[in-house]
Amino acid sequence: MMSKQEDIQVAFDDLYKTRGFRYLRPREAYEIFTGILAPGNGEKFLDVACGPGLLLKEMAKAGAISYGIDISPHAVNMSKQYCPEAEVVVANAEDLPFQDKEFKYVSCIGSLERMIDRKKAISEQIRVAADDAKFCYMVRNSNHLSWKILMKPLKLYNKKAHQDAMDLQNWCDLFTSCGLRILSIYPDHWPYYRLRKLIPIWNRNIDYSKIRKFPFSLNRAYEFIFVLEKDD
Ligand SMILES: C[S@@+](CC[C@H](N)C(=O)[O-])C[C@H]1O[C@@H](n2cnc3c(N)ncnc32)[C@H](O)[C@@H]1O
Repeated sequence: MMSKQEDIQVAFDDLYKTRGFRYLRPREAYEIFTGILAPGNGEKFLDVACGPGLLLKEMAKAGAISYGIDISPHAVNMSKQYCPEAEVVVANAEDLPFQDKEFKYVSCIGSLERMIDRKKAISEQIRVAADDAKFCYMVRNSNHLSWKILMKPLKLYNKKAHQDAMDLQNWCDLFTSCGLRILSIYPDHWPYYRLRKLIPIWNRNIDYSKIRKFPFSLNRAYEFIFVLEKDD
């Protein structure tokens, strides 16, 4: 019988084999993270659970030296083709194949909730991050209506791929208890930019990397974008 971790790996391999890049957001949705991390030229960036490499590519274009890991061999092969300038390997986020304090920037986008031991995965990211590293995570909000009234009660979430969500307080508690300091929390911007893209007079010259102010409570966000650093 397969372990839970193997089940998750197989589920993602199947998702990438059947849906490819269509499984994820389009390229421009990743510009927000490049805008937030604003990498210095030649600095090392690690994307944990990088999938097919969309953020690796954006960060490489912005001047960073990109590294990625993912549990899915199929995703890693896609990453190698899409972003040959990055170094990408198959690995579990709970046991990163890197030295201590190697990276100036660490991200984990739409993936922490998929991990079996989130604390272990975060502590590994802290270990491989430099003392002055910047972290960026995007995580799902369990208080968003889509999760609260649809996905959770109707069991529409992908159980095999370990899809999950937590509320804002629980995410904050998890990060701080692991030894991270929260610098900012933003709502996921993609629902707004996707809407703008659809409206002809509004879709010119969109700067997808720009942080916006929204007139609603953070608790209503579809996902949260956290920016963090090591707590000393
Ligand atoms: C929703 S996808 C997001 C991919 C990518 N971060 C992006 O936003 O384009 C979640 C990813 O997490 C990976 N993943 C899940 N559990 C993992 C683990 N324990 N270690 C490494 N990768 C993992 C999956 O293989 C998948 O590629």
